[in-house]
Amino acid sequence: MSIKENVFPSHFAWGAATAAYQIEGAWNADGKGPSIWDTFCHGKGRVYENQNGDVACNSYDLWEEDLRCIQQLGLTHYRFSLSWSRLLPDGTTRHINQKGVSYYNRVINDLLASNVTPMVTLYHFDLPQALQDQGGWTSAHIADAFNSYAVFCFGTFGDRVKLWLTLNEPSVCAKLGHEDGLHAPGLRDPGAAAYLVGHNMLRAHAKAWHSYHALFRPEQRGLVSLALSSDWAEPLDPGSPEDAAAAERYMAFTFGWFASPVFMTGDYPAVMRSRIDARSRAQGFLSSRLPAFSEGEPSVLGTADFFALNYYTSRRARSASPPPGTLGLKSDQGAEGVLDPSWPVCGVSWLAVVPDGLRKLLKHIKDTCNNPAVYITENGFSQVGPVDLEDFRRCGFYRDTLLEVSEAIHEDGVDVRGYFAWSLLDNFEWADGFSVRFGLFHVDFEHPKLTRSMYRSGREYAKIIARNGFPSSAQS
Ligand code: BGC
Repeated sequence: MSIKENVFPSHFAWGAATAAYQIEGAWNADGKGPSIWDTFCHGKGRVYENQNGDVACNSYDLWEEDLRCIQQLGLTHYRFSLSWSRLLPDGTTRHINQKGVSYYNRVINDLLASNVTPMVTLYHFDLPQALQDQGGWTSAHIADAFNSYAVFCFGTFGDRVKLWLTLNEPSVCAKLGHEDGLHAPGLRDPGAAAYLVGHNMLRAHAKAWHSYHALFRPEQRGLVSLALSSDWAEPLDPGSPEDAAAAERYMAFTFGWFASPVFMTGDYPAVMRSRIDARSRAQGFLSSRLPAFSEGEPSVLGTADFFALNYYTSRRARSASPPPGTLGLKSDQGAEGVLDPSWPVCGVSWLAVVPDGLRKLLKHIKDTCNNPAVYITENGFSQVGPVDLEDFRRCGFYRDTLLEVSEAIHEDGVDVRGYFAWSLLDNFEWADGFSVRFGLFHVDFEHPKLTRSMYRSGREYAKIIARNGFPSSAQS
């Protein structure tokens, strides 16, 4: 490889990401209202060892510690999310919690004073409970509530924040939260709720993007997108037409579900539409379980100023034929994703480590979404069991992954603008509680000070950042 191939473009964004509920703690401090994750975790039997994010990394009180971690890594960008119910305790602008506003003002101002660009996510899974009580994401009204919240945030922080993400991973929120019941709000309603939630999330996102575009962009000149997560899927048997079709369906139901309306056609992938419509009819539903976009609403197509990709893993796909009556996204998809035995799995069973899947997915984005600017807004490697600060496997993971990103840029011509490691800190990993650690910094959750210590992978990442890649003299 030439020197050029392993050096990233100038102004490449080197980041790390977090989310409010996973790090902040202070769940009911200073006027914060409860969110669905507070409620979910306070119920029993939902999270590993009944843990919760009441304290988490206590980033609400220990922000300066986090800032030091960011500075030690030499990050140019930091992605974090706002807790909607910390700012608007009942989810509406009827009551604004000034202490919440002050907290995020401090974070943003400190970042800028340290030469770190904030990327702010408005919604990372933690809906105000008060809005859940009115139907949450299953209610059509949520789109207006989200839009008002977004307008409030753009107006309050947008003079300094120029990179916005409206929603984090709508597919995860829709499926894990409303079909599988594994995430808050814990609904188990296979077949219809996930599509309805996804639809309302798209409507909410589109409204917020249009508000920004009309009301704020002329002066603030920022960019707005939404973070989409997707596996990369390939046929299990590359020679089999059935497996090839299964891989296409797998991609349509994971990647295309949100990427197609926003980046490609303004509507869901044709194969989702035809399969869900037909299956709904056969199952006796009066209308399709997949909602339709209505003419009277702001268009969803084109409502992203860049592609924000969360990539973790890949699958090999083969055809599956569940009984026609079975409800659920997987049954509609008619494809099953399996792990290739050659892929190492890190910590959690779903996370096969496949760095070259990221390169292929980036190329796919370039080819299918009209060559957008791409930020990789999450990517990471977990550790379970005894804490090992000398996390050599994670170091190898970051190196292999960033080499693939470099190839995507230099060989495939993908316009990748930045990379955010998940995560800055070990944190509350949703249903896995604190048992799964993704941090570049270890957090000692047993210690009253919640001490942060850099993993070896943090040191390696800092070196890569300092050199803006892997110049040939640095390769070893
Ligand atoms: C989410 C993060 C989560 C990470 C690892 C992503 O789906 O955005 O909140 O911690 O994956 O599971």
